[in-house]
Amino acid sequence: MNSRSFFWIGIVAFLLTTSGLLQAQDKKYKYVGSKSCATCHKKEKTGAAYVKWQESKHAEAYTVLASDKAREIAAKKGIDDPQKSDECLQCHVTGHGVDASLLGKKYKIEDGVGCESCHGAGSGYKKKKTMKAISAGKLDGATVGLIKPDEETCRKCHNEKSPTYKEFDYEKRKEEIAHPTPKKES
Ligand code: HEC
Ligand code: HEC
Ligand code: HEC
Ligand code: HEC
Repeated sequence: MNSRSFFWIGIVAFLLTTSGLLQAQDKKYKYVGSKSCATCHKKEKTGAAYVKWQESKHAEAYTVLASDKAREIAAKKGIDDPQKSDECLQCHVTGHGVDASLLGKKYKIEDGVGCESCHGAGSGYKKKKTMKAISAGKLDGATVGLIKPDEETCRKCHNEKSPTYKEFDYEKRKEEIAHPTPKKES
């Protein structure tokens, strides 16, 4: 092999490595906050997911950690302030434990268990064009960070590690938080 082919092999190896690294970086999507989803998912016509979520317990999951009951549970574990404890926050807020650089400007801890707790960090999929392409089946949501929530998703929090764990019947509980998009009339 002459030095010229070594040169080209070098270039190709370099490109393969950097594109791999860039892709790995792309996978780190930012949490944009439930408010960012509201722009398009608030109206009745499109399913009012934001309104339904706001009325659900999930939207209160952070606030509830300031209640007397929360303090009582925490005190037994030697925890002073549940709203500051990793042991409670891991299931009561969105994106707990991720690097601060991945929390967007509209991310709010007060939103508790927000849209992105179930659907995945939104920076990669929240654009209208992207959302429409996913919805039309032209783009696999998973490639831009959109998670299709299933029973597994819920069980990350609804499990025996929860101090107030109640039996989790997926089908039944899913009904309680349902926010389907109405079918378009044609
Ligand atoms: C700029 C508008 C816009 C924003 C912002 C937006 N969406 Fe969407 N989303 C849409 C549109 C449009 C659709 C397609 C549904 C339709 O045509 O009614 C959609 C579809 C979806 C779907 C269904 C995808 C599928 O598999 O069919 C989910 C889930 C979703 N959005 C979640 C979110 C979440 C979570 C956020 C915030 C992180 C968000 N969206 C932000 C416009 C938006
Ligand atoms: C990030 C953690 C987390 C995930 C993921 C999660 N939940 Fe929850 N869920 C909670 C917390 C915390 C509460 C309690 C909030 C409160 O009481 O203020 C809750 C409350 C609920 C409630 C109300 C329960 C009651 O007793 O009133 C329902 C129903 C529910 N979740 C269903 C689901 C379903 C279905 C999924 C999956 C699609 C899911 N949750 C995913 C953390 C989570
Ligand atoms: C493994 C996830 C998980 C952890 C860890 C967790 N929680 Fe929860 N918490 C939940 C879920 C899920 C619910 C909804 C009710 C249920 O099914 O247990 C909930 C509900 C609650 C409620 C409302 C209960 C009610 O009946 O009104 C309080 C208060 C609470 N948690 C306090 C705490 C405190 C305090 C800590 C930390 C010591 C904590 N949680 C840790 C998942 C968790
Ligand atoms: C506790 C988990 C959870 C939270 C929080 C949550 N969703 Fe969902 N979402 C689901 C589940 C489960 C489905 C149904 C998925 C399925 O049937 O495949 C769904 C479906 C959807 C769909 C598609 C509906 C359809 O008919 O195709 C949209 C759009 C959506 N969610 C938007 C949102 C938005 C916006 C928020 C926040 C305001 C949000 N979701 C919060 C779990 C959640």
